[in-house]
Amino acid sequence: MKEPDRPEPRRRTRVKNTATGIIKSEGGVDKPKNSQNRAKKPATDPAEDLTAVLSQKVVGQPAATHVIVPYIQMFQAGLAPEGRPVGIFLLLGPTGTGKTKTVEALAEVLHGSEKNVLKVDCGEFQMEHEVAKLIGAPPGYLGHRETQPMLTQQKLNAVTSEKCNLSLVLFDEIEKAAPSMTRLLLGVLDKGLLRLGDNSTVNFERSLVFLTSNLGAREMLREISPEFGFQSVKTAERSDLTGKLQAIGLGAVRKRFSPEFVNRLDCIITYQPLTPESLSAILDKQIADLQNHVNTRLGNRSFTLDVPPDARQFLLQKGTSSEYGARELNRTIHRHLTQPLATMVATNQVSPGGCVWVEVAEGGEKLTLRTVESQTALVPANPTVLLVDDNRDLLHFLERLMANDGWTLLTAESATEAKRLVLANKPNAALLDYMLPDGNGVELGVEFLQAVPEMLVIVMTGTILPPEEEALCEEHNFPVLRKPFLASDVMNQIRSRLAPTNATRA
Ligand SMILES: Nc1ncnc2c1ncn2[C@@H]1O[C@H](COP(=O)(O)OP(=O)(O)OP(=O)(O)O)[C@@H](O)[C@H]1O
Ligand SMILES: [Mg+2]
Repeated sequence: MKEPDRPEPRRRTRVKNTATGIIKSEGGVDKPKNSQNRAKKPATDPAEDLTAVLSQKVVGQPAATHVIVPYIQMFQAGLAPEGRPVGIFLLLGPTGTGKTKTVEALAEVLHGSEKNVLKVDCGEFQMEHEVAKLIGAPPGYLGHRETQPMLTQQKLNAVTSEKCNLSLVLFDEIEKAAPSMTRLLLGVLDKGLLRLGDNSTVNFERSLVFLTSNLGAREMLREISPEFGFQSVKTAERSDLTGKLQAIGLGAVRKRFSPEFVNRLDCIITYQPLTPESLSAILDKQIADLQNHVNTRLGNRSFTLDVPPDARQFLLQKGTSSEYGARELNRTIHRHLTQPLATMVATNQVSPGGCVWVEVAEGGEKLTLRTVESQTALVPANPTVLLVDDNRDLLHFLERLMANDGWTLLTAESATEAKRLVLANKPNAALLDYMLPDGNGVELGVEFLQAVPEMLVIVMTGTILPPEEEALCEEHNFPVLRKPFLASDVMNQIRSRLAPTNATRA
């Protein structure tokens, strides 16, 4: 067992004769159908891809992603050892720093949904007799047939997916578990097996096991200078602090658990308090998620949410807490943005295609949400949309759909053809596939903005964008549509986004 670092070759490593559990696509997403024909696909290392995608979802905890990813790769390569779980990690650190989020983000990347995690809340197993809920009562006990164990092979298999057969198991707040549960866990960690009340077994050889705990979190908080918080700590002092927090965590774990238990962990990862930069990145992500939620849930009643820098700064100030981490930021966003927005929608104050502007109210104590008149009338009656993709079916389908709405669709199958069309027609919007035979959609979009600055650019992708392309999309405010998507998503994006653009122009 060691502190955050790349794992060493594992004990009892044996090569399996079949590469079981290979994730079918890079970075856990489907490859585009015709990727082999595409010239500009950047040649990236899948481990780097997975690390980059995870780091976008779990902000400011590089140690966690760097430690976990190699275990997934080992599984993908069919080299995970037999007779034990693929990896066993103890995640420590202050509340709201991303411990549970890490497991959820992994589930999303590997299986397509953050719900694909078998989660055991150890707080529910504080008493010895409650452990029967976990493994089921043995035969002979009254009502043993009615007790459904929480951990069964079926439930473990149910959290895998077609994409990947590695199951993620999370034992949350492990310090709360009764001693008999810790003993059961010891068997899981050691042999990868759990014996149920009816004498059947559950096999964890295709599982990553995560244990989370707040052990030592209180002392860690004291170390993060209560008056100034982590925010004011300089970089050099920060790495010193990282070491101190790890030592506190390890000390607390050693006090609470037996050496056999601690020795079976592959890695203890201590999560760091979130820096202002990380909180700011989390805020941007939460606002982008809220906009996406509006677009998908409200369909053609969707609108644009405009949160300028001073309103973001207000949310950050109110939502920064070394005690509660990003939980406080989430609460602040909910109180000052999501709830008032929901009230406006419920009382029909926002018109479809309109825009909600967020401002810091006078006095600086709250936010004001203001609707801008319905812009539908400002959308050109007949917008011209350029669609650049080499998927002819998609081109024809959208062409029919847009024609029904009186829109004009220009289509191109390559970047070169698209550039010619932009110069000749100056379209209102461009839908660009990320991977084109002679270029990439993100860079093409940036080029288009130089020719037609008010153009709305939307990027479509069947894969996860490399971090530098994601950053370009954020910088230029390009919405990213992940394939597969509904045709209505495209139309709604264009309708809702064109309106404010035209308002500015008007
Ligand atoms: N590092 C992070 N990156 C992105 N989002 C985060 C991060 N940390 C926290 N969050 C946000 O805060 C919420 C709570 O985080 P999470 O559940 O991971 O906390 P935790 O570390 O498990 O805390 P606890 O010890 O209280 O269980 C997440 O759902 C997510 O929205
Ligand atoms: Mg948690």
